[in-house]
Amino acid sequence: MTEPQAETVRLEQLWEGSFGDEYTERNLGAYAARKSFWDELLAQHTCARVLEIGCNCGGNLQWIARHVRPRNVFGVEVNASALRRLHEDLPEVNGVHGTAKELPFRSSWFDLVFTMGVLIHQPDSSLPAVMAEMVRCSRRWVLCGEYFAETVAEVPYRGQEGALFKRDYGAILQQHFPGLRLIERTFRGPDQGWDDMTFWLFEKPVESRSTEDVAPNPMGQARGRTLRDKDHPRD
Ligand SMILES: C[S@@+](CC[C@H](N)C(=O)[O-])C[C@H]1O[C@@H](n2cnc3c(N)ncnc32)[C@H](O)[C@@H]1O
Repeated sequence: MTEPQAETVRLEQLWEGSFGDEYTERNLGAYAARKSFWDELLAQHTCARVLEIGCNCGGNLQWIARHVRPRNVFGVEVNASALRRLHEDLPEVNGVHGTAKELPFRSSWFDLVFTMGVLIHQPDSSLPAVMAEMVRCSRRWVLCGEYFAETVAEVPYRGQEGALFKRDYGAILQQHFPGLRLIERTFRGPDQGWDDMTFWLFEKPVESRSTEDVAPNPMGQARGRTLRDKDHPRD
């Protein structure tokens, strides 16, 4: 049986390598229909700083950057070729190389932290840490758009074992963070530009929203990671 930690690393390496490169190339044309989702969400919930975990080449961030100053839009991604595309296509947006289980940002820096189709690719061993990082880095909104199942179900994915899981991600988040308030749960299918995704939008309790300090950059909690020059914010 694979050690839990080894399983986390195996999946990170899978996405880092040619499997992730091919995903990026295959999906380049898949993001146009997502505009209305972001227009609606960000009209309802104003955000000054947004972070996507597992942003790939910026299929969501391109639309977010129309509502939020691009220099305040961040994405963390483990695949370098996806990040290169992001840097080319959205040079004002901050694409940071890193893994979801250990985010290089200070606590409560972002108004919104979200995943889309990323928690589904986390093994049991890293899911709690990834969720904890999402909640830690958000000041207010936590959003995930993932595949739903009442009980955990592995889905075969492109010949890889243990690489995609449907779960009740909203329930798991609330179980780990009972203070989160569910604002809405919605579903969007292929006719709306999404691949049968369930979206859970949560709000953090007011008392846990204050930022830890007031230094004007988001990297206060970089935890020893070396960030490339390109990754630093342009403050
Ligand atoms: C299915 S894609 C979704 C991309 C994007 N969020 C979207 O909505 O189109 C999953 C993305 O998450 C990245 N990813 C997977 N596991 C990750 C991890 N542990 N840390 C950081 N990025 C990860 C992959 O490289 C890939 O770009």
